[in-house]
Amino acid sequence: MIVLGIESSCDETGLAVYDSEQGLLAHVLHSQVAVHAEYGGVVPELASRDHIRYLLPLIGEVLQQAGIGKHELEGIAYTAGPGLIGALMSGAAVARSLAWALAIPAVEVHHMEGHLLAPLLEEEATDFPFVALLVSGGHTLLAYVAAIGEYEIIGQSLDDAAGEAFDKTAKMMGLGYPGGPVLAELAASGRGDAFQFPRPMTGRPGLDFSFSGLKTFALNTWEQNRKQSDNKDQLRANIACAFEQAVVDTLLIKCRRALQQTGCARLVVAGGVGANQRLRQRLHQSAKEHQFSVSFPRLEFCTDNGAMIAFAGCLRLQAGQSQPLDIDARARWPMEDLLPLRR
Ligand code: KG4
Ligand code: ZN
Repeated sequence: MIVLGIESSCDETGLAVYDSEQGLLAHVLHSQVAVHAEYGGVVPELASRDHIRYLLPLIGEVLQQAGIGKHELEGIAYTAGPGLIGALMSGAAVARSLAWALAIPAVEVHHMEGHLLAPLLEEEATDFPFVALLVSGGHTLLAYVAAIGEYEIIGQSLDDAAGEAFDKTAKMMGLGYPGGPVLAELAASGRGDAFQFPRPMTGRPGLDFSFSGLKTFALNTWEQNRKQSDNKDQLRANIACAFEQAVVDTLLIKCRRALQQTGCARLVVAGGVGANQRLRQRLHQSAKEHQFSVSFPRLEFCTDNGAMIAFAGCLRLQAGQSQPLDIDARARWPMEDLLPLRR
């Protein structure tokens, strides 16, 4: 089955063509960084308008790269939530209309399910069940994944998501938007022993996270030290390093705890913060030491993309799932409400 995937939940327009026989045929991505940079964050209305501008030309481009005509498409998958409602509606309206015009089914995809299944696009995909760590700009959660569509949330962030904490910490030190990758790059030149940040909620049982205190800790450290600092770049790098170490340690501790608690020996990491090199290295190292397997999507599929939506949608379409013509995009959508794939 050949499926077009459309991702438009936030500030990236992602399109892909996935073939259940041959795998991923093509994917293209348009980032809105330039649109939002001067505002220091995503402006929802500008995001929707930019998606509208790029969706149709990019569909043409991805079909051309895949070497197929639109009449060869057998289904369309689109992100229906969670995300910015206007941005979601832009993608949903295009997806629904195209599916109607081509008389093929269209299926809603949950953005976080897309992220969660992205590691399965790789050749050495893991088996079920597994524990998934989803770390993006909007969500941080641990789920026990029995099968596709069967997600039990076993831990989640009580306040800021990990990516959000990265972004806010970067912004507060004047590093601009999007701050996460910039902060991570800066952390590489920081001194690890300059500051000691807390590892929030690791000293008590449970799998929930709280990252907003870390962001405040970073802000206080910055305010207390910047006036007397004669090398602000190094100070920024040291704070970035201490902050990153704290986030990564916290995620690692909770992942190991989740594996122990569920008796699982397989971990899958997905979402934008999954692109973080320190997180990838530390988890690989821990997996070796403690005999569990860990898989990540390739770097470009950690952050938002159309490939994960085409893939997740293809699995659901093949299982006979699709939705009628109404456009039902939603800003909030609990993952546990998803239909299981096996009936
Ligand atoms: O999954 P994603 O593209 O969008 C959401 O669904 O939210 O994740 C974006 C988030 C942003 O907060 C960004 O700062 C963070 O992922 N991010 C990173 C890195 N690359 C992206 N955070 C830390 N280190 C990175 N290398
Ligand atoms: Zn995302």
